[in-house]
Amino acid sequence: MTHRAVIVGTGHYTPDGILTNADLERIVDTSDEWIVSRTGIRERRIRANGEATSDFVVSAAREALEKSGKQPADLEAIIVGTVTPDYRLPSTACVVQQKLDAPKAAVLDIAAACAGFIYGLALGKALVEAGMYRTILVAGAEALTSITNYEDRNTCVLFGDGCGCAIVARSENGDRDRGILAAHISGDGRLGDLLNMPIGGSKVPLTPENYHERGHLLHMDGREVFKHAVREMADSCLQSLAQAGLSVEDIDLIIPHQANIRIIDALAKKLHADRDKVFVNIQRYGNTSSASVPIALNEAMRMGIIKPGMRVLMTAFGGGFAWGSAIVRF
Ligand code: ACO
Repeated sequence: MTHRAVIVGTGHYTPDGILTNADLERIVDTSDEWIVSRTGIRERRIRANGEATSDFVVSAAREALEKSGKQPADLEAIIVGTVTPDYRLPSTACVVQQKLDAPKAAVLDIAAACAGFIYGLALGKALVEAGMYRTILVAGAEALTSITNYEDRNTCVLFGDGCGCAIVARSENGDRDRGILAAHISGDGRLGDLLNMPIGGSKVPLTPENYHERGHLLHMDGREVFKHAVREMADSCLQSLAQAGLSVEDIDLIIPHQANIRIIDALAKKLHADRDKVFVNIQRYGNTSSASVPIALNEAMRMGIIKPGMRVLMTAFGGGFAWGSAIVRF
C-alpha cells in the first residue's frame, strides 16, 4: 500500500543582521538603483559571527515541530539541503540531530544548491510513500555569506543567509486529496562551470598559494544561469502539474526560488500564471539558495495566505545545474 506524504508543519529562521544596498555601495562599485532594477533585492540577512548553518536549521525546526505537534524524538530522518555545511565532515544533518536531540533520525545532506529543499521534499515524499519513515525533517539552509566574494559585485549583491523547513509525515487519515501531490527533480552536470566553487574540494584543495584566486568562493555566470533557470523551472512545473493531473489554473499559489525578480516575472509569463498568485519576498532576503523556497513557504503560512485546501506549486533552480518542483495541497 502506498502511503500519502503530507506537510504537517513549517518553520523558518533568518538572522537579525541586515545588509542593505546602501551598505553594499560602500563595499563594491554598485548602486541601490542597479541592484533593485536588476534583481528586486533591497536587503538581505547576514549571520552573526559564529552562527552556523546547523544553528539556522535548529531554530527553524523548532517552529516546524511545534506547529506539527511533533517532538524531536519523533524524527526518523533529517534531510538538509545546503551548499554551506558546517563542516565537510560530519554532515550538517548530523550536527542538527545532535543539537535537536533527535536520536532516532537518519541523517543526510543534499548538495543540490538552490534546489536543495525541493530535492529534499521529493526524497521525503518517496521515503514516506514507500513506508520507510513516518516523520521527516526537510530543511533548506544556507550561511551563503560565508562563501560570498565581497570583491565581486556580480555576485555579492545577491546572496543572504537563512533557513526554512517542513515536517513531512505519513498521512494518518488516508486523505488522498491532500499532501505532496507531485514532485519532479532533474539536473544537468554539463553546465556545472557556470555556477561553481572550483577550489577547496578534492580536485583542487585550497592552499596558501591559490587562496588569492578566490576560487573557494562562489562564482557565477549570471546571464547564462538566468536563461536556463527560467526554461528549466517552467519545464519542471509543467512536469509536476502533469504528474498531479492539474493545470496552472488549479494552482492557488506559486512559490518560486527567490533568485531574481526578473526570473520570477519571466517564469510566471512562461507558465501563463496569474502574477498575483506568485509569492515574492526577495526584496527582504535576496537569494538564500536552498532556504529561499521554504522561507517563503513559511512566511506565506504565517501571513495566512495559504489556507486549508489550497494547492501550492514550488520550484527552484541552482548550481549543478539542479532543479525541480513540487505541488502540495494543504
Ligand atoms: N552593480 C553595478 N553594475 C553591475 C553589478 C552591480 N552589482 N553587477 C554587474 N554589473 C554590471 C556588469 O559588470 C555589466 O557591465 P558591462 O555591461 O559594462 O559589462 C552590467 O552590469 C550587466 O551585467 P549582466 O551580468 O548582464 O547583468 P544582468 O542583467 O544579467 O544581471 C544578475 C545580473 C542579477 C546576476 C542576473 O544575471 C541573475 O540574476 N542571474 C541569475 C542568478 C540565479 O538565478 N542564480 C540562481 C542560482 S544561485 C545558487 O545556486 C547559489
